[in-house]
Amino acid sequence: MKTLTIIKPDDWHLHLREGQILEAVLPATVNSFRRAIVMPNLIPPVTNVDLAMSYRQDILTACPGDCDFQALMTLYLTDNTSPADVKAAADNPYVHAFKLYPAGATTNSESGVTSLPDLMPTLEAMAEYQVPLLVHGEVTDPAVDVFDRESVFIDHVLSPLLEALPQLKVVFEHLTTRQGVEFVLDAGENVAATLTAHHLLLNRNAMFDKGIRPHHYCLPVLKRETHRQALIAAAISGNRKFFLGTDSAPHDRLAKESSCGCAGIYSAPVALELYAQIFEDNDALDKLEGFTSLYGPDFYGLPVNSEQITLKKQDWQVPRVISAGTEEIVPLCAGETLKWQRA
Ligand code: NCD
Ligand code: ZN
Repeated sequence: MKTLTIIKPDDWHLHLREGQILEAVLPATVNSFRRAIVMPNLIPPVTNVDLAMSYRQDILTACPGDCDFQALMTLYLTDNTSPADVKAAADNPYVHAFKLYPAGATTNSESGVTSLPDLMPTLEAMAEYQVPLLVHGEVTDPAVDVFDRESVFIDHVLSPLLEALPQLKVVFEHLTTRQGVEFVLDAGENVAATLTAHHLLLNRNAMFDKGIRPHHYCLPVLKRETHRQALIAAAISGNRKFFLGTDSAPHDRLAKESSCGCAGIYSAPVALELYAQIFEDNDALDKLEGFTSLYGPDFYGLPVNSEQITLKKQDWQVPRVISAGTEEIVPLCAGETLKWQRA
């Protein structure tokens, strides 16, 4: 049987939630990933170091058995985040970044930033202390077509920001467009990007396959095939600017299967297996380990993991649903057969 042993990966963009959802989703992440950058978009959001320490403790408490998982915490940037908040984050060993949600851009982003120019002193502090800014790179102007919101964000928000603060460390999260790939390639070494398994696997047709497919709805929304091809080229290029971030975003099934279904794809149980399949399908399995396990720690200035994991090539069927106490979560590829699994 074909097997593949790599350094244990990290997930550089993950939503773990709280309570029964946290307990239900943590085992799948722990199984494949040694560390994860944990998103702060709880209700209320994780806006300061104290809240992040309390959330980190909740995650450790929910960790199964002898798990050695490390939660790398992030803080939610708001209009009120101060340079002192940045200094406190820089001084805390468990906090690794700030997350920029333009207000209204996505799930639980209501407390996000309404005016980036007004936050300049705070952003200058991030550049000074080299605390990375993780960006949800979409404008929120309803006049902008939903499929263009990433490219307009680049032109109107991110380019001017980096011109003003050329030293700012930025991770362009869940990149979805050819324009995004080109922007990251042209930018300095301080700019990197995460790529999700679902944006590498699916184009926008997947949302409308013989009907509305709410479990394929996420933000940024899936794009055209030409964009997916650009993302694959970036992922398998061996360029250290592109690394793994699942954006695994669990929601209760009923919140997605609704007349106004919410955004987010739960991919943690299948993500590593899908990345392996995508790299193999593109004759690039030799590039997988850099993408999953080396380039992320390099950008964040963290050591590479010492553990290894093995994947084996053997068909398995993804569960149709994962139960989470009184709720249930439908994973990406529910009920489908995948080719790679953990040995
Ligand atoms: C995320 C969520 O559900 O928290 N949803 C999503 O579609 N990706 C938020 C986000 O990362 O945009
Ligand atoms: Zn996310």
